[in-house]
Amino acid sequence: MATLLHLDSSLFPADGSASRAVTAAFRKAWEEQHPDGTVIYRDLAATPLPHLEAPGYTAAFSAPDALTPEQRTAFARRLELVEELEKADAVVIGAPMYNFTIASTLKAWLDHVIFMGRTTGEESSLKGIPAIIVTSRGGSYAPGTPRAGFDYVQNYLGAVLGTMFGMEVDFIVPELTAAPRNPAMADLIPQYEASRDKALQDAADKAKALAARHAA
Ligand SMILES: Cc1cc2nc3c(=O)[nH]c(=O)nc-3n(C[C@H](O)[C@H](O)[C@H](O)COP(=O)(O)O)c2cc1C
Repeated sequence: MATLLHLDSSLFPADGSASRAVTAAFRKAWEEQHPDGTVIYRDLAATPLPHLEAPGYTAAFSAPDALTPEQRTAFARRLELVEELEKADAVVIGAPMYNFTIASTLKAWLDHVIFMGRTTGEESSLKGIPAIIVTSRGGSYAPGTPRAGFDYVQNYLGAVLGTMFGMEVDFIVPELTAAPRNPAMADLIPQYEASRDKALQDAADKAKALAARHAA
């Protein structure tokens, strides 16, 4: 049975979040193909993970029988998160752009699952797992726009999930989401609507294509 890991990190609830709408569309299309499959869901904004601290970091480099109680507790949390990711057949991540990069709650999750020698490198346990990243943003950072070089979401997540983890990374970018609320962007509303509609369609199409790789 197929397993989907679904992460959201928008500050806003479902009815006010561009990324949540698109990850939900992905999940819906995936579940239609795998009604008896498993979906593991983490709302990293509603239920934030604690930051990675020294005990959790050092535990990964210590002999198991030499761990302190603090290291044991912190390491158990890391292992739970890593194992969730390792058993996923696909991962969909809501990664809105906040201050040019990802939400700190998503960064906290990454700090736990970046596990040298296990999830990284040539023998990464995550190699080949598809990751669809939905990175909504209020403006546009497309090539040719004035702030084209300010998107630190796609290069960062591409480096970590693609290069370090060896995952198959694909982005969906609903942009100009601020247009309906910002009078100065009123002319951009049609572009925002087109981007939103394309993102929802892309999510459904990509979910269907990825779901078809696994027997129902
Ligand atoms: C704290 C915060 C910081 C933001 N920073 C940026 C930014 O740097 N660039 C941008 O284009 N939009 C920025 N925005 C707008 C969001 O990217 C936009 O609202 C997008 O729709 C977020 O996805 P969401 O609707 O799923 O939360 C920011 C919004 C918030 C709340």
